[in-house]
Amino acid sequence: MILAANWKLNKDPQEAKEFYLEFLEKCPQESWSQFIFFPSAINFETTAECLSSKSISWGLQNTYYQNEGAFTGENSASLAKKYGATHVLVGHSERRQFFGETLKGVALKIKNLQSLGLVPLLCVGESLEERESRKTESVVEEQLRTALEFCDFSKEILLAYEPVWAIGTGKVATPEEAEAVHKFLKTIWNELCPSKNIQILYGGSVKAENSPQLFSQKSIDGFLVGGASLKVDSFLGIMSACL
Ligand code: PGA
Repeated sequence: MILAANWKLNKDPQEAKEFYLEFLEKCPQESWSQFIFFPSAINFETTAECLSSKSISWGLQNTYYQNEGAFTGENSASLAKKYGATHVLVGHSERRQFFGETLKGVALKIKNLQSLGLVPLLCVGESLEERESRKTESVVEEQLRTALEFCDFSKEILLAYEPVWAIGTGKVATPEEAEAVHKFLKTIWNELCPSKNIQILYGGSVKAENSPQLFSQKSIDGFLVGGASLKVDSFLGIMSACL
């Protein structure tokens, strides 16, 4: 199981440090390699200090496709790597919804990350309107194919299916709804890259109470967690509920 934490714009460096110290104390060391943390960029250094010497993966919630230059306000993937980052979230629906991120831009970001040896965690998912008009499959298929336009299939990449209507809303996809989309995405992936399996995380209002039913589905390999990742006990509770 992979458990990824998306902290969005939460926590200052002191709070992040307190979280990591509590996490390291409460989480058994043999499980550390199953976690990936995505703190806000301001917590970059604290995260590097607390996690980089441990076998715990971390990275930024967004990086630009260029690594240096006159790009005010952006994050550099090569700098993140220098500090020990291993992963970067790409194409989260909030980036696409609020910051005008395009699928073409997402494809360039993936290319840059893979060329640096960082692992992109690509997010796809449909809006409520798209689901209600039965467009879920066509929407996620287009998102996946466009985002992977320059993907180097010999390198690692992770995928998250996050229905936009389930993010931060308390509404979670049923295990069957989530499984159907994961299965569909895996079929497309197998067509693009038959020699390698892809791991797909589910995201959208995941917590300890709903995670076991979701995780019992064959094509769900873990979770990308927002709200419930902000407290050590609720985050670790997801893993223990699924054991
Ligand atoms: P949520 O967020 O768990 O708070 O719904 C998930 C995400 O946006 O990645």
